[in-house]
Amino acid sequence: MTDFQHAQLDWDASGQPLSRTYGDVYFSRASGLVETRYVFLQQNRLAERFAALAAGEVFTIGETGFGTGLNFLCAWQLFATLAPKAARLHFVSVERFPLTAADLAQALTLWPELAPYSAALQRQYQAIHPGFQRLILDDGRVTLTLLVGDVLERLPELDARCDAWFLDGFAPAKNPEMWTPALFVELARLSHAGTTLATFTCAGFVRRGLNEAGFAMAKVPGFGHKREMLAGALERPVTPAAVPWYARPPRPQGP
Ligand SMILES: C[S@@+](CC[C@H](N)C(=O)[O-])C[C@H]1O[C@@H](n2cnc3c(N)ncnc32)[C@H](O)[C@@H]1O
Repeated sequence: MTDFQHAQLDWDASGQPLSRTYGDVYFSRASGLVETRYVFLQQNRLAERFAALAAGEVFTIGETGFGTGLNFLCAWQLFATLAPKAARLHFVSVERFPLTAADLAQALTLWPELAPYSAALQRQYQAIHPGFQRLILDDGRVTLTLLVGDVLERLPELDARCDAWFLDGFAPAKNPEMWTPALFVELARLSHAGTTLATFTCAGFVRRGLNEAGFAMAKVPGFGHKREMLAGALERPVTPAAVPWYARPPRPQGP
């Protein structure tokens, strides 16, 4: 198992966190908030999908790289605004180097408009440790499952059916260990036909790897100085195991 370590951060003059380990930014210097909304929320069509949920339905989002929680908080805010009251959000995110609670608090001061959501997250973001951790928010309407550890160790331990993926993580050139065929296969295993996926990168090998895993990915205009990014959906789902002991039980109805 990989050693547990918190994120080692530096802060630039404008208060933006930078990873010392990966030498990369957590989000766009122009505007992390606008970038998240464009790249992950809009390209996964979350506004219309949240609004169309039925009472009692659960929408599950998977993410690689929880980081500061910005993507999670933006998704939660959108869900709170558009989803029917009786629908629920499950956000599952893997993180190899979780921020300390103090660093998370400092990073989240950048987004005053998310303050009610950030405050609720911080109240529960305590004693983060390796393995699975479940944070219950908004009186149970929102669940955050944090998988602390490397994606390639934690995702194979997960049993879930994600409706959308935020494929984040530092730039493939700076973090090649993460962007592997093994990861793309795990994303497909945890998806169903029509599960959407968005990622800020348009690297050719990422597109080809996702395509090989069953996703149909297309280049779409990127955010800020990035000309293109990738968005798509699972077209060829992994065939459910033929033997019954590997079959997933039906999704439970109701809360
Ligand atoms: C660009 S940041 C993510 C930003 C984040 N989504 C947010 O809203 O702040 C990338 C994150 O991926 C994490 N990461 C990188 N490689 C990883 C791996 N192999 N397994 C799990 N997490 C990883 C990093 O520690 C970092 O927190």
